[in-house]
Amino acid sequence: MKTTFLKIESPGETDKLEQAGKVLREGGLCGIPTETVYGLAANALDGEAVRKIFLAKGRPQDNPLIVHISCMEELPALVREIPPQAKALAESYWPGPLTIILPKADCIPEEVTCGQKTVAIRMPSHPIANAIIRTAGVPLAAPSANTSGKPSPTTAQHVLHDMDGKIDMIVDGGQCAVGVESTVITLCTQKPRLLRPGGITYAQLCAVLGEVEIDDAVFGELKPGEQPASPGMKYKHYSPDADVLLVKGEIEKFAAFVRQYDPASTAVVCFDGEETLFRNPVFSIGGKQDESAHAHAIFDVLRQADIQGYKTVLIRCPDGNGVDMAVLNRLLRAAAFRVVNL
Ligand code: TXA
Ligand code: MG
Repeated sequence: MKTTFLKIESPGETDKLEQAGKVLREGGLCGIPTETVYGLAANALDGEAVRKIFLAKGRPQDNPLIVHISCMEELPALVREIPPQAKALAESYWPGPLTIILPKADCIPEEVTCGQKTVAIRMPSHPIANAIIRTAGVPLAAPSANTSGKPSPTTAQHVLHDMDGKIDMIVDGGQCAVGVESTVITLCTQKPRLLRPGGITYAQLCAVLGEVEIDDAVFGELKPGEQPASPGMKYKHYSPDADVLLVKGEIEKFAAFVRQYDPASTAVVCFDGEETLFRNPVFSIGGKQDESAHAHAIFDVLRQADIQGYKTVLIRCPDGNGVDMAVLNRLLRAAAFRVVNL
């Protein structure tokens, strides 16, 4: 299949938007920019179209997809009820990097929810994403547009790298502002529960809801056979081909630890100002306290490590505050939970 690559710089480019809308209405797949990461979109109401997403990504069949909407009016048709907590969250954080799990309506096909009675809904804030949903005229099911298991794509070039020849179209809407995926919260448990940390922080959720539980799968490794509330949490994720180790400890100890490894085949991920301590190839993900910079940089750095073919990647562990909770969650998975405490 030939993949059409289309750059759209503003929601005013209606002809190009209509090309993307047509692909989606006709049951095709289109890579779309969002403020978090690029999504691989299909008509969420068309089970046949949604099935193609799983094939293109090599995604496990039991990992459900997020349905993307462009405005509040589109929500009632997709869910059985809208609890007051969902309204409150939507008022505060939609459009934006928050996904809310709600009881699903009958019109949502099995292919989207993988047989669950709930559906994940998000309203992205990226103007091109919003315009594509409106132009398509249907809600869009979209996981991140990477090959399953690989780091999520934060540029259209990342999507092209993974999906060229496998999907109908990629819309280039520039680099994603947030850089990690949306926060996933379920309102289908007794108390609201955080299933995946993301662009909206835990503190932001608590500010609206009061108490919010954190699912065990956010930081912990699942025991063999254990079923997580969010199926995506059980797979190895976000991982370059290299061996990734997450290293906790002060910078001097980290530098000494790094010296045990061959500098030719070992890359280092650290914070701004630390680069000169290493003879290795170094990637900085921003200032130590600059959580947004870490989120913005992390997937691109993991992808570059892959392209440059390092055997090992040693990563300075962020502290987990604010958006760093999401960065830490992704790095734990990229490292397959291998953490060294110095
Ligand atoms: O920022 C994002 O959320 C991006 C952009 C494209 O919107 N999308 C994204 O989708 O990250 P994906 O498929 O990579 O991650 C969706 C996560 C998975 O962990 C999945 O298991 C969970 O949401 N999920 C989806 N539906 C669910 C449901 N009904 N119940 C529990 N978890 C669900
Ligand atoms: Mg994903």
